[in-house]
Amino acid sequence: MPIANEPRIIVALDFDSAAAALSLLEKLDPAACAIKVGSELFTLAGPEPVREIAARGFNVFLDLKFHDIPNTVARACEAATRLGVWMLSAHAAGGRAMLTAARDAVRTAALDSDRPPPRLIAVTVLTSLDDTDLRDVGLIDGASAQASRLANLAHDCGLAGVVCSAAEARSLRRALGNAFTLVTPGIRPAGVDADDQSRIATPEIAVANGADYLVIGRPITRAADPLAALGAINRSLGASQ
Ligand code: C5P
Repeated sequence: MPIANEPRIIVALDFDSAAAALSLLEKLDPAACAIKVGSELFTLAGPEPVREIAARGFNVFLDLKFHDIPNTVARACEAATRLGVWMLSAHAAGGRAMLTAARDAVRTAALDSDRPPPRLIAVTVLTSLDDTDLRDVGLIDGASAQASRLANLAHDCGLAGVVCSAAEARSLRRALGNAFTLVTPGIRPAGVDADDQSRIATPEIAVANGADYLVIGRPITRAADPLAALGAINRSLGASQ
């Protein structure tokens, strides 16, 4: 669950330059949202924008979806923790040894650097993959069974939570309890363009289904007034800003 007064909205800063990303940041408020940095911005601009965003008071979700041998992922998680991120992601399909190494690396690096440990969140099945894509890579049980299997594995390995759709949130919340963090993309306020998202939910429905944090990009980043768009979503969820 979000801790008291912590914003639920994570704004996806999907930009192709640090300057564009930081200029959008000027229009946002760390009391009203966290910020997601993904592989596009990180590959282009490296860790400096992450430091800058954190220095401006925002919680940073570093969404690089680590997936490699356990030692490599553990070292990447350690580096991200030392960078001061608040949340980071790894693929649950990396397996038990990778997930536990990542979990331990986050805890140790947080202790060593005297920081609160960031939330390590697992990616289950990318929503861009359907059952046919999964069969191509030898996974024959279908996306929903595979996502549920990987969410259970992440929970079992002591990860903080998973990324999931608003539709999956209800059953995961029931199965994995209230302490497990559910982070949900594919969010569109009622009446807003769906862009290229297909299985979308409104913020209210995602939270009612059990989502803790909502990843929202274009409805905020492309709005004429991003802070006003963010404020309207927060108010629809009963937050004051
Ligand atoms: O602009 P929009 O709100 O669609 O952006 C959503 C963000 O969430 C993007 O950064 C996208 O990569 C990410 N995401 C997603 N669906 C997933 C996982 C992540 O849209 N299943």
